Parts: sequence; structure tokens; C-alpha cells
Amino acid sequence: MDSKDLRKDFLFFFEKKGHKIVPSSSLIPTDPSVLFTTAGMQQFKPYYLGEKSPYGERVASCQKCFRTSDIDEVGDKDHLTFLEMLGNFSFGDYFKTEAIKLAYEFLFKKLRMPLGSAVFTVFAGDKDKDVPEDKESIEIWKRLGIPENKIKKYGKEDNFWGPTGEQGPCGPNTEIHIQGTEVWNLVFNEYYQDRDKKLTPLEQKGVDTGMGLERLAMVVQNKPSVFETDLFEPILREIPDSNVKTQRIIADHIKGAVFLISEGILPSNIERGSILRKIIRGASDAGRILRLSENFLIPLAQKVMEIYKETYPDLKSKETDILTVIQNEEEDYRKSEVARERIAQKLITKSQEGGSITGAVAYDIFSTTRIGIDRIKELAGEQGIKLTDPERFFSREREFRGISRAGAEKKFGGGGKFSPELHTATHLLHAALRKILGEHVKQMGSDITSERLRFDFSHPQKMTGEEIKKVEDLVNQKIEEDLEIKKEKMSYEKAVKTGALAFFKEKYPRIVTVYSADDFSKEICGGPHVKRTSELGKFKIIKEESCGAGTRRIRAILT
Ligand code: SER
Repeated sequence: MDSKDLRKDFLFFFEKKGHKIVPSSSLIPTDPSVLFTTAGMQQFKPYYLGEKSPYGERVASCQKCFRTSDIDEVGDKDHLTFLEMLGNFSFGDYFKTEAIKLAYEFLFKKLRMPLGSAVFTVFAGDKDKDVPEDKESIEIWKRLGIPENKIKKYGKEDNFWGPTGEQGPCGPNTEIHIQGTEVWNLVFNEYYQDRDKKLTPLEQKGVDTGMGLERLAMVVQNKPSVFETDLFEPILREIPDSNVKTQRIIADHIKGAVFLISEGILPSNIERGSILRKIIRGASDAGRILRLSENFLIPLAQKVMEIYKETYPDLKSKETDILTVIQNEEEDYRKSEVARERIAQKLITKSQEGGSITGAVAYDIFSTTRIGIDRIKELAGEQGIKLTDPERFFSREREFRGISRAGAEKKFGGGGKFSPELHTATHLLHAALRKILGEHVKQMGSDITSERLRFDFSHPQKMTGEEIKKVEDLVNQKIEEDLEIKKEKMSYEKAVKTGALAFFKEKYPRIVTVYSADDFSKEICGGPHVKRTSELGKFKIIKEESCGAGTRRIRAILT
């Protein structure tokens, strides 16, 4: 059974059981406290907290996810950065009994997975959190005929899930493991965890389940790892298998890169862009270990698109962009290698003591130059310098990973708070859109990082190439005019009366700050902004696309 059928069968099964099928949301979440979408429930978070779901109380989806938390695990049989998660969700509708029965029916009746090889885990309870053992789930599994010795109890590390981000719904979970692999996670959202990690019971109970498509394919197709399934095999076939872990890292990372770029992310040194850069460079380093020639990533990226082109048609339409970004990043990285080796060489000479350098020093050299330990050893050897206690290199690496892993899931706040250029650019864009398209244009949302801005606005149809060019030109004209950005405080009423634009979704305080650029733009805003428009450089629209009925989205950058 191939993965396309698994996806289809899952959604069909749940549709028949009264679930509305909801398309995958973007890998870039609306929740600003997380960097990527890491779970199917993320787009539904408000519906667990009482907000009415526009899709009804039962939904199912196949969600694109990207998990930086698993990046260092990639290479084993079943950890990945990019994955697809199948899930069914209930917002105050069914709870434990039906959720467990549905999962049981799909896996063991519909897909006929061997029940004998399955193990079930449930929450053992936690005194600190004052959450009791999940006796109910144990009973439900038993009623389905699962013997007691197949039901294992674990604490909060393993069997309590969520929240995603800084706060949100969470609760005990029960997992289904088949042939030793965790396949399906059923979370029972009974609590709300706030920023101080305090739990309060939710008024409305919910179900959030997640089953990795790759892992499901692995057990259904009876493969030793996710990499042998049809979701990876065509990529793997193109990479030498002399070092299996390295081969898998390349396959995982190139897939992750293709999907991240398809969402408009570009390599950079911060936030999402830095993760993209890390995986492209990681794949490039791995390719070097396997002695692959330059640009080896391009045919692999094409394989990724082959595998997914029917499920995610936008990959095909963005193919040229995706390949160009990968090729440029890899070339830049390779080109810089000679220079980086030279720096490493100098650092070795400088830091040696009595003809040797320690593993800790080697790690510092590595983190500055990205030259790996084996090559550092060779370079040191060329100068007759020895490397002592290499183990220290690896322990430093582990320490560092611990830190970066904790940080990586969180957005570093950088973009939103520290990008005055892009905030000002957003105002100019808003004003330009209203001048060129008409006064019906209203801001529906925006997301600003220090790399790019995203601006959602009301407009009934696709913008023409000419309109895009006119808007871009007008913004650039205003940048060149070097307008002063004026900041004034006034009452909300006065601001609106004097024509300041307000973002309708926001609730404003009585006294607001208004930023204006001559008589071109005037908006209520928290800032920050630049002093003069000429600080922006050049404004470029990268993309104009639909983002819901009557709403368009523009992605733009400053160069
Ligand atoms: N949110 C849970 C997970 O990601 C179940 O969907 O595992």
C-alpha cells in the first residue's frame, strides 16, 4: 500500500465518521511563539479553548510539519525534520472512548495491522502537576481486548503532551506502538497550561491525535526504517549507501529544504532562514563525506518534488525558485571552504600549547569555521600538532545542542521587535496598495521578520503584473523621496478622525501612537520605525497570492 493511498484512506475513513477534512496549514504558523508548525493541532489551537470552529467539532487533516527538535536524531530509523502528520481532532465533541475506538478500528480493522505486535502506553499520573493516572484509557483498551501486560504506564515525560508554544491546551496521552515504533499519539486535551506552566482544567474537553505518515508507511510497508518507504526510497536510491546515517541525513535535509523554500523561506542567519541554512549546509557537509560532486543536491531536490507533486502541486510551480535557492546556498558554502580552512589553520597555530590542541579548542574552531573535527585533525597534523582528548569535542557539541534545541523551537522575537525597516515598509506598502488598487484595501494581518514581510489585505482578485509593478515602484519612489517618519501621540478618536489607518482586528488603547510619512501614509502603530524612508534601501515584492476568500497576501523584502 503506497503512501498516497494511506493518506487518502485515512482522510476517507474519518470523513465517513463525520469529520470535516481540513487542508494542511502552512509550515509557518500564526502562533508567533513557535518557529514552525510542528503538529496537526496547531492550526486548531483556538478551538480547544472555546472559540467556535468554522469546520465543526470533528475534523481530520494531513498536516505538513517541521521539527527542529528532532534534527540531531535524524539518521536513525524514524526521526525526521519534515514530516506529514495524519490526525483527527475533536473540539468538545467525542472524547477518550471514541478516539481510542476510532484509532483501533483504523489500524487493526481497516489496515489490518498485526495486533500481536502492538503495545499501548498510557499516562501514569503526576503528583507535582496533580494530574491523576489515566485509568479511563486503560479500561477502554482493556474493553477492546488488549491484555493488561500490553498496556504500559509512563509519566509526564512520555505520556503528557503539549502545549505547543508558550501556552495552550495539553493533557495526558495514549500511544500506539507497532513493531517497536510509536505510530499514533492520542492526546486528551483536558488542561490549559499558562506561561508559568500552571494547569487549569479546560471547560471543554478535546482530542488531538497525530500519526506520522512516514512511520505509518514504514510499518504498513514492512520496512526497517522510514527511509525505505516510498516517501524516501526514490531519493535514497540516488545517494551512495557507504554510510547509511550520512545517506539518511542528506535525504531528510534535502526534503526539508524543498518544503521550507516552497513556503517562501530563504537561507539567512536568523530564525527560520537559519534553520534552512543549517539543513542545506548539513546536507552539503554530508555530501562531502560521501565524496559527492558539487550540485549533487539538485537532482535530489527534483526527486523530492516527484514524490510530492500530486499532493502538493505548488512544489512544481515553484520548482525553479526552489532549485535556484538550493544551488546558490550550496555553491556559496562550498566556495567559502578554502577560506574557512585557512582560518581554521591559523586558529590551530594560535591556540596550540606544547604541540597540541584540546578537543574543546577544536570545537571552538569548528563553531567558528564549520570545518569538521576530522579535517581539523588533518590540518593540525600538517603542522605537526596533535589533537588531545577528542571526546571533549563531542561533549561540547552535545552541550551546545542541548542549548540550541531548547532555543530553536522558540522564535527569537528578533523580527517583530527589531525590524523598524520592515515595519515602515509595511506602512508604505499599505498606502501604495490603497492608492493603486483602491480604498477597499484593508490590512488583514501581517508578519514581519528581519528577513521579509508578509502582508495580508482585502482585495477581491489576483493583482496583475502591472499592478504589482506600480505598487513596487510607488513604494520605491517614496523611499527615494527620503520622507521623514513622524511619531505623534493622540487619542484614538482623533487619530481616526484625521485619517490614520487602524488595523481593524486590534483593540487600541485610548491614547495611541500614530506614525506618518508626509501625507502619503498615516497609521496607528506600536512601531518601531525608521527615522527616514531612505533607510529602507530597495523594496521588492517576491510574491502575490491568495490567502482565503477576498484576501490576498504579499511577501516582500528589502534589498
Ligand atoms: N499533538 C500531538 C503530537 O504532535 C498529537 O497530534 O504528537
